[in-house]
Amino acid sequence: MPQKFYITTAIHYVNDDPHIGHMYENIVADVIARHRRRMGDDVYFLTGTDEHGQKIERAAAKEGILPIELADRVVKTHHDIDRRLNISYDDFIRTSEPRHRLGVFELIRRIQERIPDDIYLGEHSGWYCQSEETFIPENQVHDGKDDSDHSVEWTTESNLFFKLSRYTEPLLEHYRRNPDFVFPPTRMNEVRSFVEQGLKDLSISRTSISWGIPFPGFRDHVIYVWMDALTNYISALGFGSGDHARYDRYWPADVHLIGKDIVRFHAVYWPAFLMAAGLPLPKRIVGHGFWLRDNLKISKSLGNVVRPYNILDDFGADSLRYFLVREMTFGNDQNYSDEGFLTRYNADLANDLGNTLSRAIKMSDSYFGGKTPPIPCDDNELIRASREVIPEYLRAMDDFAFQRAMDAVFRFLVAVNGYIVSREPWKHFKEKGPDEALSRIIWNTLESLRLIWVMMAPIMPTVAREALSRLGADPDAIGAEALAWGGLSNNMPVKVADAIFPRADVAAYIGTHPAIAEKKSGEQPVEESKPSPPAQTTAPAEEIAKEQPPHSGPPIETTQAVPPGIAKVSIDQFMEIDLRVAEVRAAERVPKSKKLIKMTVFDGGSERTLVAGIATKYAPEDLVGRKVVIVANLQPAKLMGIESNGMVLAASIDGEPSLLAVDPSVPAGTKVK
Ligand code: MSP
Repeated sequence: MPQKFYITTAIHYVNDDPHIGHMYENIVADVIARHRRRMGDDVYFLTGTDEHGQKIERAAAKEGILPIELADRVVKTHHDIDRRLNISYDDFIRTSEPRHRLGVFELIRRIQERIPDDIYLGEHSGWYCQSEETFIPENQVHDGKDDSDHSVEWTTESNLFFKLSRYTEPLLEHYRRNPDFVFPPTRMNEVRSFVEQGLKDLSISRTSISWGIPFPGFRDHVIYVWMDALTNYISALGFGSGDHARYDRYWPADVHLIGKDIVRFHAVYWPAFLMAAGLPLPKRIVGHGFWLRDNLKISKSLGNVVRPYNILDDFGADSLRYFLVREMTFGNDQNYSDEGFLTRYNADLANDLGNTLSRAIKMSDSYFGGKTPPIPCDDNELIRASREVIPEYLRAMDDFAFQRAMDAVFRFLVAVNGYIVSREPWKHFKEKGPDEALSRIIWNTLESLRLIWVMMAPIMPTVAREALSRLGADPDAIGAEALAWGGLSNNMPVKVADAIFPRADVAAYIGTHPAIAEKKSGEQPVEESKPSPPAQTTAPAEEIAKEQPPHSGPPIETTQAVPPGIAKVSIDQFMEIDLRVAEVRAAERVPKSKKLIKMTVFDGGSERTLVAGIATKYAPEDLVGRKVVIVANLQPAKLMGIESNGMVLAASIDGEPSLLAVDPSVPAGTKVK
């Protein structure tokens, strides 16, 4: 029987349309769910909406409508965005549904039954934050504001209380026994320190609002929104209903995926409620970081809420999915900009993944009559590379390190490109025709790309299907068994088609398509944002085959720009060199070398190590913070035992290096061409 895997997102408030934070969370959960599913787990993926509480009541009152009317309207936009983002949830719960109410009642009933004084009526005074709907501890209030800059008011209420203080020690004990309970570890430490200060009892009812679930036995009270909302994770499984088969199968949750701002509710209150009710605790609380705009938290009041619906319209769900997952180091915060999206889209998708795919398919198409080559290969450097990359990718996916997973895939892609360049299949074809050696070269290339797209499938499910079918592979074969070398059949039809990721014209796009869309713009892409031919595709294989090798043939026809004696390269050959701006993050001399400096540079996506022969001119400390131009897709080389991944460009004046200057405002990762 397959292993069960229950993953949930936070349920999102319905006081407003979904924004980038909601989209990101559902995408990440979807990537995990799709990955676990294809690895053979029995996945149950839950998302939904949080519809009770003051926030919704106020937002509805502002519009002069009932809270449920607001919820019904906004939930549609959540469904619409989830559908467009291809979120493969198994269930979507709304806290306004009767099944949820049953679950909440049952949780309270169990707590009251097990330990009667865990819930008691009392009076409470304290600093109440309306925005967060919670009392804020004295030491977190300064000048009438809490740590998140929300206003707080001194409030006295007669409420029902939950004896949270009783759970201080049991929770600490749980954290001791399960140090991975909260991920990443920094968040675990924050939670632990908070609990170590001692927990106060928690007010779990409100008399000031009416939009909520009535507290059983206390007519004037509605249940505190967090107690209500957290219970969705079990009410959705049928807890409290007549049919609890799904609860029995899937609870406890394997992952509650949430933003860092609500870790405390999930790692302190929720397990305490469950302990009180005698129910098992979730296995893991996983907190992601925040999408920011110009380093600021996005908020309605600042007017900087990011809704990248424009990108979704114009570049499709998979490009946005890839960008959000790839750009953010999981757990950290990250700025969003359309420019950032477009830079990465062009570099990683249009250029690296897209061009390599069309190039390889065109070669197979023209050398082997529209088919995958007839002879496979089971001993070559790409197999060895795949055997390193795939386990690394799988480990990274398990560690929520999606960036690392993508790095591994792209390293493999660099190896594939290096393989193509070193084997020169176009030359081979010209000289020897489609012989066995050429069959192996092209088959290896296609097989490597198949593996790459199988790895990409959870992140870009639709494009992966298309890429796999273009490669002559089975688009449905993306399971664990497809992650092994040798899956591509021989003599299968390949499909030459338009660029899978048409190149974007960044300058034309910016300015015409607002990055901050309060509502979907509905605009169509402007003409200029259509693919620009030279960079969009690599030359067809026939043209590659026709290419003159450098330094051969009759005297080169010269122009002013190309001095005699220097071989010309085609635009496609030039585009194969991935020149990028990178930022030097660290630098040190290589011991026992007069010339070499080892640098850590940030290439816009990740950090890499480079070794450069520039120590005669530059001191390491002068390099840190400087922008340089690097050849990003150079095959790694070892210099004095250090692996160098790329090359820094410098002019050489009588052997003395002079680094190319880059305008410091150009972001790391920008392509140089
Ligand atoms: N309704 C509560 C959650 C209850 S779960 C039992 C809530 N809703 S929310 O709509 O405000 O947030 C939903 C999720 O989106 C949360 O996990 C939150 O952390 C996340 N994000 C909200 N803004 C975000 C960003 N700017 N960036 C990334 N995620 C963020 O909290």
